[in-house]
Amino acid sequence: MKNFFKLQLMLAAILFSGMSLAFVSYDQPSWDVPAEYKAMKNPVKKTNETVAEGKKLYDLSCASCHGATGKGDGKKSEHLAKMPADLSLDQIQQDGEGSYFYKVKIGRQGLHSFKNKLDDEDIWTILHFVHTFQK
Ligand code: HEC
Repeated sequence: MKNFFKLQLMLAAILFSGMSLAFVSYDQPSWDVPAEYKAMKNPVKKTNETVAEGKKLYDLSCASCHGATGKGDGKKSEHLAKMPADLSLDQIQQDGEGSYFYKVKIGRQGLHSFKNKLDDEDIWTILHFVHTFQK
């Protein structure tokens, strides 16, 4: 009988730690962006061509998590501890260009950091397509 209680206790502990993990993953701590990045502006001109190129790059590098229309519902999203951001949200659309650049290029918590996968110009080009998600 004693062992049975031990088992219950263990299960409760596992359940509880799982729950607190779930809370951690829904919490969105603020994402600090260094001032030199904040001041940056998109050096790539917005044209029909750069928006189309941005879509191509987005489909290759971002859609698997953020979804084809930016809602955060890409096929990889269900396997992540943290939900990919809904890129159509006002809060993200209005975030500065430089903050976007920093978050995608440098990333955080093992996520993102495209600095070895995309060159700066690609990251900026994608932003023109991301802006088409604006509601
Ligand atoms: C492996 C999955 C994955 C891929 C691929 C991915 N993202 Fe994300 N993205 C995330 C997750 C998860 C978050 C939420 C991260 C956080 O808040 O710490 C996020 C957050 C963001 C944010 C919002 C940051 C904020 O202000 O809260 C932007 C913008 C973004 N991603 C753009 C992109 C772009 C552009 C690409 C492609 C170059 C991309 N992501 C590729 C998973 C991904």
